[in-house]
Amino acid sequence: MPDLEALKAEAALRAVALVRPGDRVGLGTGSTARHASEENGRRERAGEHAGVVGVATSEASAALAREHGVTVEDLDTRPLDLAIDGADEIAPNLDLVKGLGGALTREKLVELRARRFVVIADHTKLVTRLGEKAPVPIELLRFGLDTTLERLRDLGATGELRARGGEPFVTDNGNVILDARFGGGRAIDEALARELKLTPGVVETGLFLGMAERAFVAAPEGVRELVRTPRP
Ligand code: A5P
Repeated sequence: MPDLEALKAEAALRAVALVRPGDRVGLGTGSTARHASEENGRRERAGEHAGVVGVATSEASAALAREHGVTVEDLDTRPLDLAIDGADEIAPNLDLVKGLGGALTREKLVELRARRFVVIADHTKLVTRLGEKAPVPIELLRFGLDTTLERLRDLGATGELRARGGEPFVTDNGNVILDARFGGGRAIDEALARELKLTPGVVETGLFLGMAERAFVAAPEGVRELVRTPRP
C-alpha cells in the first residue's frame, strides 16, 4: 500500500515550486492542500519567496497558513497569480469534483479569480468520468431546504445531506451540503451543472468544469503533470 500522505506532499511541492516572490496565491483546503501550505511556510521562512500573500478558501486554510507564517488577505477583485488545491475526482480533461472537505463555494470563488489553477492529488483521484467514485457535493441554503431537495431529486439527485457527529455538517458559510449521486446514465457535465445552479436554494456545486490549468498527480512511480485539453 503506497503512503498516500507522502504522495500528496510530492504533488504539493511541485505546485508550490511555481510560486514566485510577491505572488498572490489561492490557498486550497483539505489534506493535500495542507502540504502546500506547509511548503509555502517553509519557503517563506527560508526567504525563498518573499512577499507572497495567500487568499484562503476556508477558515481552516486561513488558520493553517497563518500558523505557517504566511500572510493571508481576503478575496477582492484583484486577480490571483496562482491557486493550488486538491480535488476529489480528476477527469482526463481536468474537469473536477471538489468539496468533500466542505469548502467548495469559497474554493470556486478563489480559483475563478486565479490566472492559473493548479490541482494537486495522489493517483487515487483519477477517474475516467466524473461521479465514478465520489458524490457531487452541492451546498444548499438551510431556508426552504426540503423544497430545494425535492427539486434536486427531480433532476435525478439521490444521496444524503452530509452529517458530522450525528448533526448536519455546516459550511463556513452557514449552509449544508447534499452529497449527490446521479444514476440512470445521467452525465455529470455542464448541462447538469447549469441545471443545478439554476435551482433556487443551491448556493454552489462541487463541479469545477474547465477551470484547472494543470494537475500534479503523484503515484508510486512518480509525479505526472497533466495539462488541460480543450473540449472537443
Ligand atoms: C475541500 O472542500 C475539497 O474540495 C478538497 O480540495 C478535496 O476534498 C480534496 O481533499 P483532500 O486533499 O483531503 O483529498
